[in-house]
Amino acid sequence: MNVLLIGSGGREHALAWKLAQSPRLTRLFAAPGSPGIAEHAECVALDVTDHGAVARFCRDKAVDLVVVGPEAPLVAGLADDLAEAGIAVFGPGREAAQLEGSKGYTKDLCAAANIPTAAYGRFTDAESARAYARAQGAPIVVKADGLAAGKGVTVAATLDEALAAIDDCFAGAFGSAGAEVVVEECLIGEEASFFALTDGSAIVPLATAQDHKRVGDGDTGPNTGGMGAYSPAPIMTDAMVERTMAEIIRPTVDAMAGRGTPFRGILYAGLMITAGGPQLIEYNVRFGDPEAQVLMMRLESDLLDLLHATAAGRLDGAIARWTRDAALTVVMAAQGYPGSYEKGSAINGITAAESLAGVKVFQAGTERRNGQLVANGGRVLNVTATGATIAAAQAKAYQAVERIDWPEGFCRRDIGWRAISTG
Ligand code: AMP
Ligand code: GLY
Repeated sequence: MNVLLIGSGGREHALAWKLAQSPRLTRLFAAPGSPGIAEHAECVALDVTDHGAVARFCRDKAVDLVVVGPEAPLVAGLADDLAEAGIAVFGPGREAAQLEGSKGYTKDLCAAANIPTAAYGRFTDAESARAYARAQGAPIVVKADGLAAGKGVTVAATLDEALAAIDDCFAGAFGSAGAEVVVEECLIGEEASFFALTDGSAIVPLATAQDHKRVGDGDTGPNTGGMGAYSPAPIMTDAMVERTMAEIIRPTVDAMAGRGTPFRGILYAGLMITAGGPQLIEYNVRFGDPEAQVLMMRLESDLLDLLHATAAGRLDGAIARWTRDAALTVVMAAQGYPGSYEKGSAINGITAAESLAGVKVFQAGTERRNGQLVANGGRVLNVTATGATIAAAQAKAYQAVERIDWPEGFCRRDIGWRAISTG
């Protein structure tokens, strides 16, 4: 099979690495790809927002499956337009991608299907949002409705903070994503991520993970796209996975099918494990980044088989097999991230890091200049390792970090601390 992978981040490097291991793969293309992805794929300069151009490329190169990494092309309807052109796509259509594209859409679906989630209100003007927040009191959570690159959520400890966040949203801090606002109850518990493939009716549970969103050790400082992750998440016991499937994932898949907009692709459920059980914080309609990196390290099954079966509606009876080993990834970011940072500093030592058994370095933001690998983003490398336990994977990952020669980069030193301190 010929496959086109859309994206350029560490997540897509991990997907490319795993797809390349499939005996069913003939050619792998990536648009736009990256130096890391280029080790496994032919990178092509395609304008992904031009859906007609993507379809023409697929016809020219006899592409059998398009795998969409990030959410933006899905929300923009790339899967619909490719499907219309007769091309199989891994990833939901525009309507089903609203599960990530609109927080209010997901909250209303939860209310209609009786899925456990924080109590909420949806607002299109500041005054009614402020009145709701006042009536509920702090702590309370304020969210821009649309895609805001992970920056549209304020967990407000005080009412003043909540009111300021509401005003920011309606003043345009998140552009059109903030034209509507969700105000919701603050859930108390431990967060975990759960992933499942679905073809619109059959569901294959994947694995669990936990990530670290804050930039600083001890989960302090500003939010980021994610500074590290590990899998499995110890809090997601078999019983908790079963409840998540029965109370959250299955009702979501059935409700989407019932609306005539079946969800095909991967459901990434952000969960809060509360005293009363799992509650849905939010859905994403794509693999997590950097969660995909740890999932791919643990997956024993053929990824291409699974993604193709999902796209083709043949997931019934499929299973995903995982190594019992844990995996952990440490994000190396450019100094200054998530604020402003420089690009272009030289990175060496990846081969030395990867010579450690069970280590793989995924590239999230790199470029090649005159043959030298250089930093080209905020999050730059995902130094990933497996081990018999999360503690062993952590030790191996940090051993590999020591072999990376990149003085302009930094990383957190405590990825996995919660799992290690409680396990
Ligand atoms: P998001 O950008 O939607 O992933 O949200 C960012 C973070 O905000 C989540 O990972 C949670 O830590 C937190 N969060 C979102 N909603 C809630 C909620 N209802 N209660 C507590 N924390 C929340
Ligand atoms: N790691 C968080 C995300 O992919 O949204």
